Amino acid sequence: MRHLLDPTDLSIEEIDLLMNRALDIIARPEAYSESCHGKKLATLFYEPSTRTRLSFTAAMMELGGQVLGFSDARSSSVSKGETVADTVRVVSCFADIIAMRHYKEGAPRVAADYSRIPIINAGDGGHSHPTQTLTDLLTIRRELGHFDHLTIGLCGDLKYGRTVHSLIKAMNRYEGTRFVLISPKELRLPDYMKQELKDNYVEVSTLEEAMPMVDVLYMTRVQQERFADLQEYERLKDTFILDEAKMALGRKQMIVLHPLPRVNEITVGVDNDPRAAYFRQVENGKFVRMALIYTLLKWKEEGVVSAANKDIQVYEDGGQRCSNDRCITATEPVQQQVYRDKDGVLRCRYCDHAI
Ligand code: NCD
Repeated sequence: MRHLLDPTDLSIEEIDLLMNRALDIIARPEAYSESCHGKKLATLFYEPSTRTRLSFTAAMMELGGQVLGFSDARSSSVSKGETVADTVRVVSCFADIIAMRHYKEGAPRVAADYSRIPIINAGDGGHSHPTQTLTDLLTIRRELGHFDHLTIGLCGDLKYGRTVHSLIKAMNRYEGTRFVLISPKELRLPDYMKQELKDNYVEVSTLEEAMPMVDVLYMTRVQQERFADLQEYERLKDTFILDEAKMALGRKQMIVLHPLPRVNEITVGVDNDPRAAYFRQVENGKFVRMALIYTLLKWKEEGVVSAANKDIQVYEDGGQRCSNDRCITATEPVQQQVYRDKDGVLRCRYCDHAI
């Protein structure tokens, strides 16, 4: 059975298929309005969210399906100490597909191991956020028309920003992609993510330097909830602010994306610039989630199995433990499993950190 836990679970061809499906939904919404009639989506959100959860809900409703779930884990049996594995076994009896957001990295992977229905990762800790990436890709496709030979500027919290990590993994597979990394040194891209890149990136220390180089500027919020030390958050949160003066340095054809919510990293004056695509991006998120739900349910019926990630082998517990304290293996009684990546590095199967 197919799940979507990481953007690389999808081959490039499958990403194209989802983009084309989303474009068809935009062109002919009435053709899809009953396509999930009688189906139920469970939204299991262990961490706050507005747009992602509402976007999933709206998507399922527009496909003619229904939605159940929780948006606050404290009001569910999780507060009684239930594991992700047990919650998912139970919810598998009530729904046809699950969208899960969790503060622990790799929690949706554990869910997939125990689920009888497809799992969509709606964001796990600082690790991955594949449906935001599909949203970003659909926006790039609609705004710029292609994915090849693009220079992507990534600005803000590159350390904990799961949207950034997923976008890098997805865009890195296209011909001629280059990345410009713009962050305070404390929030630089983690090493395990840098290993994904070869020599196709530069790090710069100001937005002014980056602006003339980029086709896409991906702005992100410095995420208060990921900091153990609030003083450090206060010190870093205003480092990079995109305003109209900086926009004047950018190319005419560039676009600005942001997964939202915005705090203060883009001034409201930028919103009126036609290159500011972040509110159009939100709407694309609904269409691409419709395409995804529709496709995963169809694949389940047809018995389609994974085409990507064939080279990843899972090793049973070799004695090593994952040292990432944000990993689901730190809190739930899951068996440690590891795999070797294409460079031979041993990694945790749940959160991808090197062991
Ligand atoms: C992002 C997230 O949750 O990772 N938001 C979203 O899903 N649209 C980014 C963020 O919260 O900063």
